[in-house]
Amino acid sequence: MDYLISPSLPADKLALNHTIKLGVMASGSGSNFEAIAQAINKGELNAKIEVLIYNNPSAKVKEKADRLNIPSILLNHRNYSHREALDQAIVEVFKVNKVEWVVMAGWMRIITDVLLNAFPHRVINIHPSLLPSFKGINAIEKALKSQVKITGCTVHLVDLEVDSGPILVQAAVPILPDDTAETLHHRIQIQEHRIITQGIALAALKS
Ligand code: GRF
Repeated sequence: MDYLISPSLPADKLALNHTIKLGVMASGSGSNFEAIAQAINKGELNAKIEVLIYNNPSAKVKEKADRLNIPSILLNHRNYSHREALDQAIVEVFKVNKVEWVVMAGWMRIITDVLLNAFPHRVINIHPSLLPSFKGINAIEKALKSQVKITGCTVHLVDLEVDSGPILVQAAVPILPDDTAETLHHRIQIQEHRIITQGIALAALKS
């Protein structure tokens, strides 16, 4: 088996009875952002991405949002003197857009209680390891270095501690003998794209 997903809930068990409004935050290529948008377009997730916030002017996620006709706003962290000020600007954008759930889909900044207090128990993150192992940056390199044989990815609710908070869904990915960070990240991302939408649906169902 290439991967193991938990919990393996059938799609009908993840059906939401109203269209949830998402605000997505991303810093990089945006493949998870795209996976969410595609799941919505295919009718697999009853949601709408109201707005994307990205913090890096050259982030590829912006092009994906344009292609998908999803509004996007650049909030460049370099323009804010402290983390709370950036988070306050994020909250304002999300509130104006009536966002109900926040998804950090590769957001490479530490967030503060300004964001968490505005969306209590409604901020979701995806991380490329089986938490609580390998928190923080370079999770894939850390897994390779540690010589574990299985790693994976985790969708969880966010709290103030980095890569902490209640776990919603995980997928396990075996580490192959000749894996590099790139090959392993590629296989982990295939699973991320499956569990990110499941995690969002589970969080909304539990709330
Ligand atoms: C993902 O691997 C995610 O787990 C991590 O950042 C990466 C973002 O990838 N937090 P992408 O921008 O969604 O392709």
